[in-house]
Amino acid sequence: MAEKQIIAVVGATGAQGGGLARAILADRGGSFAVRAITRNPDSEKAQALRAAGAEVVRGDADDPSTLGRAFAGVHGAFLLTNFWEHLSPERELTQARNMAQAVKTAGVQHVIWSTLEDTRKWVPLEDNRMPTLMGKYKVPHFDAKGEADEIFRELGVPTTFLLTSFYWDNLIYFGSGPQRGPDGGLAITFPMDDKPLPSIAVEDIGKSAYGIFKRGREFVNKTVGIAGEHITGADMAAALTRALGQEVRYHSVSPEVYRSFGFPGADDLGNMFQFKRDFNDYFCGARNLEFSRSLNPQMQTFDQWLAKHKEEIPLPAETVGR
Ligand SMILES: NC(=O)c1ccc[n+]([C@@H]2O[C@H](COP(=O)([O-])OP(=O)(O)OC[C@H]3O[C@@H](n4cnc5c(N)ncnc54)[C@H](OP(=O)(O)O)[C@@H]3O)[C@@H](O)[C@H]2O)c1
Repeated sequence: MAEKQIIAVVGATGAQGGGLARAILADRGGSFAVRAITRNPDSEKAQALRAAGAEVVRGDADDPSTLGRAFAGVHGAFLLTNFWEHLSPERELTQARNMAQAVKTAGVQHVIWSTLEDTRKWVPLEDNRMPTLMGKYKVPHFDAKGEADEIFRELGVPTTFLLTSFYWDNLIYFGSGPQRGPDGGLAITFPMDDKPLPSIAVEDIGKSAYGIFKRGREFVNKTVGIAGEHITGADMAAALTRALGQEVRYHSVSPEVYRSFGFPGADDLGNMFQFKRDFNDYFCGARNLEFSRSLNPQMQTFDQWLAKHKEEIPLPAETVGR
């Protein structure tokens, strides 16, 4: 059998990259092998990847001196930055530049950059319908990723720009799950009115990235968007009600109210949802469902994701009447 081509996966110990690493490892007869890039090759997750058959190599997107070895000899690379670890768009940009330069130097044939829109192309800074944040962003964790697209283009890196979607896993890990209202009932809260939210099981982002690598050069220098469903808050609440066996309502608030919730990143997320609501036709159109399923035929629906994960969604305890 021909030797397998190596795909270096940044974020292999995390959600998006983990899905890709598992997809490659599961396809034993396939033509790719995984190199998991991590800052900590001794972590439990890195060791589990090694045990499952991945090569594990130390690499830190903050430290260019580690990246030559990380990308040496690989055919492809999946690259991401993790805004939520540091909340700094500037640091995301620096990390993206470090990785783009390293894959260019290493002569990597196909890079997938996990990106999002630079919303300032739709809502310039002087547009006051949403506040400017950190001096020069509208949606900092989107804008820096979109801005970084240009770094890959300028360096001439053969890149597929992968527009991802809101993870349903946020209901488990990111505080987006049902909360109790003043009446004690459960509700999910988004500032989306009745507009559909492109969303996805995070595992399916990695599987879709694998589909892109398998299709060779077809999507090089192209932007592709993926989602499992375009689902309204009301339909999400109805699906949660069915899955959990207790009523979950959809509480639609204004972006202003959402921004004022005060948790770290609330203003960034309030602007993000406002962008998704106000440019909904564009946003959904960029994440075509049929196309997404063509990359990943196992793409889950929200109901299917719930059937697997409903027990993991933390539910606040019932308040006992005083
Ligand atoms: N939540 C959502 O709905 C959503 C939707 C679309 C996009 N996103 C974006 O997804 C990104 C996070 O991805 P995720 O959810 O897969 O993250 P995650 O599960 O929190 O894992 C983060 C991964 O990034 C790696 N990493 C972080 N800093 C690194 C560095 N300096 N060098 C090398 N590797 C580094 C970590 O590896 P080690 O710790 O092993 O080094 C880890 O594998 C965020 O930027 C977010 O904006 C999120």
